Amino acid sequence: MCEPRHFDVRYAINPWMDAGAPVDRALARAQWQALVEAYRGHGHTVETVAPVEGLPDMVFAANAALVWGGRVFGSSFHAAERRPESAGYEAWFKEAGYEVHRSGAVCEGEGDLVPAGRFLLAGTGFRTERAAHREVQEFFGRPVISLELTDPRFYHLDTALFLLDEDSGEGDGTGGGNIAYYPAAFSPGSREVLRWLYPRAVIATEEDALVFGLNSVSDGRNVFVAPQARGLIDQLTDRGYLPVPVDLSEFRKAGGGIKCCTQEIRS
Ligand code: ARG
Repeated sequence: MCEPRHFDVRYAINPWMDAGAPVDRALARAQWQALVEAYRGHGHTVETVAPVEGLPDMVFAANAALVWGGRVFGSSFHAAERRPESAGYEAWFKEAGYEVHRSGAVCEGEGDLVPAGRFLLAGTGFRTERAAHREVQEFFGRPVISLELTDPRFYHLDTALFLLDEDSGEGDGTGGGNIAYYPAAFSPGSREVLRWLYPRAVIATEEDALVFGLNSVSDGRNVFVAPQARGLIDQLTDRGYLPVPVDLSEFRKAGGGIKCCTQEIRS
C-alpha cells in the first residue's frame, strides 16, 4: 500500500474526478490508516511503498502490477500523468527480491486483472488493452478470460467485480471460485460469460456499485467493503461471509476505493 501523503485530484482521467474539487487530505490519511489497521487486525501483513510528491494517484497501489505465483507483471499506465508511478513501485519490488516484467501494451495491474483460481479474469474497454491480455496469458501460462467494460463510471474491472473466494464450491466446478459483480457494467457477451462461469455469483445493484461496493478485498472469509454498500453487505452476510466495513469515501473523488488502494502480493 502507498500512504496518501500526496493524494489529490489535479487532473481528470475518469468520470469521478473533478480537477477543481478540494480533497481533505487529513481525512484521506485517516481513512487509509483505518484500512491498514483493518487488514492487520484480521491477520494480514501490510507493507508500504514510499509515496512520491507530484504523483497524486500513487495511493492506488492495485494499478501498479499483478503479482501471481511470486511473479510480477508490471503496469504500463494509460494516462501520461500516472506513468512515473511505475518507477517507485518497481524499485520496491526489486528491493523485495522480485523481478519485474513490464507490460508492452497498456495494462493497469490489478485494476483490470483478477486471478480467480485456475484462470484469470481480465477487463478491457477503458484502460488495459486486449494486447495486454495476450501478454498476461503468455507470461503466467494461465487462461485469460477477457471481459469488456462498457460504462465509463466503471472504467476498471475492480470497480465492477471482485473475487469472493478461489474455491468455495459455490461456482460450477470450473475452479474459478466465486465472485460478486454488477452485470450492467459489462457488454452483453461478457455478461453471458460471467453468468455461465459463476451461476451462484453475488449480483450487486447499481447503488452498491456507485459507492464502490465492488471495489472490495476478500480473503475468502472477511470482506473489506465500503459501509455504504448496504445491499451488498446484507447479501454477503447471508452467504456466510464476514463483512468488515471500511470507509474510503474521500478516495471516491479520484475514482477509487478499498481494492484500488491494495496491491495483493500472491507469493
Ligand atoms: N484516479 C485513478 C485513475 O483513474 C484511480 C484509480 C483507481 N484504481 C483502481 N484500481 N480502480 O487511474
